Amino acid sequence: MTPETRLQLAAHPVAYPLLRGIALLGPAVRVPRVGVVVSDAALAKEVLTDTAKFTKTGPGSPADLWTPVVGPSVLLNMDGAAHVALRRKLSGLFTPRAVAGLCARAGEGPLSRLRDDLASGHEVDLVAVVRDLVGAVICGLVGLDAAQARQAADAGSAITGMVRLGRPRLGPAQVARARAALGTLTTPAAKAYAEGDPSTVPGRMRELGLGEDEALGAVAAFVLTGTETLVSYIPRLVALLHDSGWLTRLLAEPERTGDVVAEALRVTVPSPVMLRSVAVDTWVGPVAVRRGDRVVIATISACALGPFDPDRPHPHAVRQLWFGAGPHFCLGMPLADAEIRAFLDAVLSAAPVSIVERKAARRVLVPHYERLVVRRA
Ligand code: HEM
Repeated sequence: MTPETRLQLAAHPVAYPLLRGIALLGPAVRVPRVGVVVSDAALAKEVLTDTAKFTKTGPGSPADLWTPVVGPSVLLNMDGAAHVALRRKLSGLFTPRAVAGLCARAGEGPLSRLRDDLASGHEVDLVAVVRDLVGAVICGLVGLDAAQARQAADAGSAITGMVRLGRPRLGPAQVARARAALGTLTTPAAKAYAEGDPSTVPGRMRELGLGEDEALGAVAAFVLTGTETLVSYIPRLVALLHDSGWLTRLLAEPERTGDVVAEALRVTVPSPVMLRSVAVDTWVGPVAVRRGDRVVIATISACALGPFDPDRPHPHAVRQLWFGAGPHFCLGMPLADAEIRAFLDAVLSAAPVSIVERKAARRVLVPHYERLVVRRA
């Protein structure tokens, strides 16, 4: 069994084999209490891009799950013109220049400590360093103090940890806990918004014409989307490179970094499923669906092409599917890419490194290493 399969099974001992088994039954299959499960990449992209038939706001959709926690205006639970307008207002925060500056400023502390520790031959738990990095970057993005970095990363984990595939909504106690976890972050963000300081993101959002609710919703959305995905992905990327020999190969072929990063995203799929609600009676591939049905896009199955191999090209339908498709395509992709490359550079600066301990996280929404300890070899 590969370390990746072990991670998947530690996180989802029942749902992972079930989803992979369902994929063998066809491109789309109706599963009682779960929804219509899509396991084919081309069909997944069809659903994601057809916003007239499939929405993010009906029963069983992300809105059903997230709106009670973060309010109604958070991109990932919006549709139509309001969604387009808010995305447009936020897109300036994700230009290559903006994300490079943010990553350099906010990531400098955790990444220079990582370089120093590896260079001095210390053992380093990469998961802890990634949590510090992504927390610091999100704090920089939303105008929170860097001292809240770990709190931001932990809030993301606490909330996503409550979600289960067979549970389309959170219960009242879970909503209260999730709101409390986010409240510790959105309260300081509200202050930054009120002060309107353009060096903070809520201040800049205000300048861009966003209301306070929209700005605080965006803070919550970034904490949710921009922490757990990378805490999952970056250590798994390093482990895949280590186990396949690509860590040393990259030193000689740095121009292959893009292929390697994309192939590791395909293998790990840090956002393993996407949810939609059917807006009008229609078909999903061979399956007839009715308004209100839930569609579960099993990205993890749609991207399955075999073991990690950066020399295998990605078919057109699979390309970038791990970041979604259509109008909700990951807004943070340029930032994710900047953080991934900055972290990889720091690890490569000490290469060759060896893994001295790895431990899979059990029963979590997004599979990840609980610990991945490395040392300069
Ligand atoms: C490897 C890391 C990441 C992966 C694999 C990933 C994946 C995704 C996917 C699949 C979606 C679309 C979900 C859907 O259509 O249902 C999405 C949306 C989104 N992501 Fe990411 N993401 C990553 C990192 C980030 C980061 C670092 C940020 C921001 C700081 C971010 C912000 C967002 C936002 C705001 C949305 C909602 C966009 C919208 O609905 O218009 N993501 N992401």
